[in-house]
Formats: sequence, C-alpha cells, structure tokens
Amino acid sequence: MKNILITGGAGFIGSHVVRLFVNKYPDYRIVNLDKLTYAGNLNNLKDIENKPNYAFVRADVCDYERMGEIMREYRIDGIIHLAAESHVDRSIKDPFTFARTNVMGTLSLLQAAKLYWESLPERYEGKRFYHISTDEVYGALEMTHPEGIEPPFTTTASSGEHHLAYGREFFYETTKYDPHSPYSASKAASDHFVRAFHDTYGMPTIVTNCSNNYGPYQFPEKLIPLFINNIRHGKPLPVYGRGENVRDWLYVVDHARAIDAIFHNGRIADTYNIGGFNEWKNIDLIRVIVRTVDRLLGNPEGESEKLITYVTDRAGHDLRYAIDSSKLKEELGWEPSLQFEEGIEKTVRWYLDNQEWLDNVTSGEYEKYYEKMYAGR
Ligand code: NAD
Ligand code: DAU
Repeated sequence: MKNILITGGAGFIGSHVVRLFVNKYPDYRIVNLDKLTYAGNLNNLKDIENKPNYAFVRADVCDYERMGEIMREYRIDGIIHLAAESHVDRSIKDPFTFARTNVMGTLSLLQAAKLYWESLPERYEGKRFYHISTDEVYGALEMTHPEGIEPPFTTTASSGEHHLAYGREFFYETTKYDPHSPYSASKAASDHFVRAFHDTYGMPTIVTNCSNNYGPYQFPEKLIPLFINNIRHGKPLPVYGRGENVRDWLYVVDHARAIDAIFHNGRIADTYNIGGFNEWKNIDLIRVIVRTVDRLLGNPEGESEKLITYVTDRAGHDLRYAIDSSKLKEELGWEPSLQFEEGIEKTVRWYLDNQEWLDNVTSGEYEKYYEKMYAGR
C-alpha cells in the first residue's frame, strides 16, 4: 500500500498518527483529510508539514462527492478514519452534529471508498478501511469487590500481566455494545456501518476500540489538558460528581503505535481493543496532576489542591471503563511503551512548555486564521 488517507489528522490522536506514518514510511504518500473544526489545528503538524510524502486536504467527510474525488485523485489504497466529534460534554448539548459527522460522515467515506475500489481491476485486493473507535461503545462497568477486597486490587489479564483494577469485569472484543451518551451512540452506529460494509460488500475493514488517550496536542476541553491549564492560571478544577469515575489512560503515542501495527498486520474484519491496563479514579488522577504541575512550577506542595471544586455530575456519566487488550498483545506483540508516571510527567511538561499553543487554541485564533486562508474554497 502506498497512498494512505488519514482523516482527522489535524486533531489530537490523528496528528500523532500522521507524524508517525510520515516519518516511518517515506515511501508512502500520507494524505491528511480534515475539516479543521475547532478541534483541528495544523500547528499540531508543523514539524512534518513540508515533508515530500505529506499532503493536506481540507474537506468535510460528510461531503460524499468530495470524498470520491479525493479517493480518485490520490489513488487511495488505505484509509485510517479518525475524523469525528469527540467530546462527550459537547454531544450532550448538540447531538445532531455528532450524528452528522460520526455516523453520516463515516457512511459517506465508506460508500466513496466502496465505489472507488470496486471500479479498479484489483477491487479490494491490498486495500484497507481502518476505523478508529472508542471503548465508550461498550457502556459502563461496575466497581465490584471480589471477596470484599476494596478496590483497586491486583488482577491478572489473560495475557499474563498483573495490574490494578477497580472491578472484576473488563471490556473484551466480544462485549456487547451498550452506549449511553450521544457521542458513544454515534460511534457505535459508525462501528456497525463499518462492519456492515465488510459483511455486505466484502470491504476489508478493521475496527479498534481504545481507552482514554492523554499526551501533547489534546484540546483543553478534555480533563488532563484542561486541568493543567487551569492550575497554571489559578482557575477552579471542576470535578464532576464525586470524582469516583474510573478511566483507563493510554499515552497517545502508544495508541499511534498500536494503529500502525494493526493497520499493517491486523486481521481483516476483526476488532482489537487497545488500552493501558492503567485504571485511575478521576480524583486520584487529578491529585497526581495537581502535584506534578505544582512541583514543575515550583509552587509549595499541595498549593493548588484548593482549586479542586466538586460540580454537578455529567448527565449519564459512565462509572468505569477498563479495556482488556490481551488479544493485541498476544497476536501482534503490542504493549504500551510508557509507564503512566513517565507519561504524565512528559505531558505536564509539554503543556507548561507550550503555553503559546494552549493560548492559541483557547482563544480560537487559529480558527479565524483558517477561515481567512480557506475563504471561498
Ligand atoms: P479530536 O476532536 O482531537 O480530533 C478530531 C479531528 O477530526 C479534528 O482535527 C477535526 O477537525 C476533525 N473533524 C471533525 N469533524 C470532521 C468532519 N466532518 N470532516 C473532517 N474532519 C473532521 O479527536 P481525538 O481525540 O483525536 O479522537 C480521534 C478519534 O479517535 C475519534 O474518532 C475518537 O472517537 C477516537 N478516540 C478518541 C479517544 C480519546 O481519548 N481522545 C479514545 C478512543 C478513541
Ligand atoms: O474512553 C475513550 C474516550 O475518552 C474517547 O472516546 C473520547 O473521545 C474522549 O473524550 C474521552 O472521553 P471521556 O469523557 O472519558 O474524557 P474527558 O476528558 O471528557 O473526561 C474524563 C473523565 O473526567 C470523565 O469521567 C469526566 C471527568 N471530567 C471531565 C472534565 C472535562 C471531570 O470531572 N471534569 C471535567 O471538567
């Protein structure tokens, strides 16, 4: 495969995937297709934007005609589809935008790929449609106490590693879908369409469901960058509910590495879960962030704890997510490369060192710039 279309490549995870592929595969042409919504920012890709194997196209995945043109113009062999509306709180306020981009956008891309690939002599030979999804489609897990032991307790995954968990149950590739938010419902619907295109038309598809990512270039509406930025500015840290919810955190570069491994060696029509075996109760994670930021800023220890503010819970807030990624380890040998302590330290340092990037995205300056640059196009 030579011509790879990456959608949503100007976003958080997409920019790390684009960077990895552009640097690692000089023989591939990497086409980054992005609408540049508030979450898409070409500053995330400054270091690779002039590489000869990289091209950027501003387009909306819902624009079906345009998707067909791009498929033909760049003779696309493989697609890694990340473009989406990704923030749960926004989906609660505006579910239509999520249905449009995540469901109709995915369908439009699937249908454009189908028509293009079926028009070629080799049809689906050597082609791939890889859809990036989330663990949120599986719903929420309980916090159970086996034999009365208080969580977190040590447990052992089928692939053998020991890790801390807040419950006995995990999300497996076979777990039944049970989405609760408009965001996760829209992602679930898109996953179903992708699998339907394999089952109905024979399109070579792959779906992966990943846990919470963290790292550089994440839009500061999500917990970790929002809280780092607020601590720096002495602003309140809004903890939803009692801060008891549990998420499984994975460093974004490790997600990009998993995507690379699965895109090249994953089994067609299969599903892989991607996660860090790294569960954190929100309030405990928030305390780690507070301590790390205070230390790196030279503040007295515990200084910013006073910013922690309990607020009304998120509607339909899922209690616990926990991915079992044993299948990925067993089949493709993938494992997270970073320990959480190291990842969070790197992440906090990055946001503190890149205040200009944060100011730019929080002020919306870059959006105005793109509006001018692409006016009339
Ligand atoms: P993000 O919001 O940072 O980036 C999304 C990107 O998609 C942006 O660049 C945006 O401009 C682009 N986009 C949005 N609508 C578009 C449209 N109609 N046409 C073309 N481009 C459009 O999201 P992210 O956190 O990087 O997530 C990327 C993907 O990974 C999403 O599909 C998300 O569901 C999935 N995912 C995210 C996480 C996470 O923790 N962030 C975890 C698992 C899966
Ligand atoms: O699990 C994968 C998902 O992780 C991805 O599919 C989503 O795209 C991504 O946004 C993320 O969803 P979450 O809702 O888990 O992430 P978020 O950063 O919004 O919130 C993490 C936890 O922190 C969640 O339990 C809600 C809580 N929270 C969040 C914010 C923004 C707060 O307590 N206060 C906040 O201000």
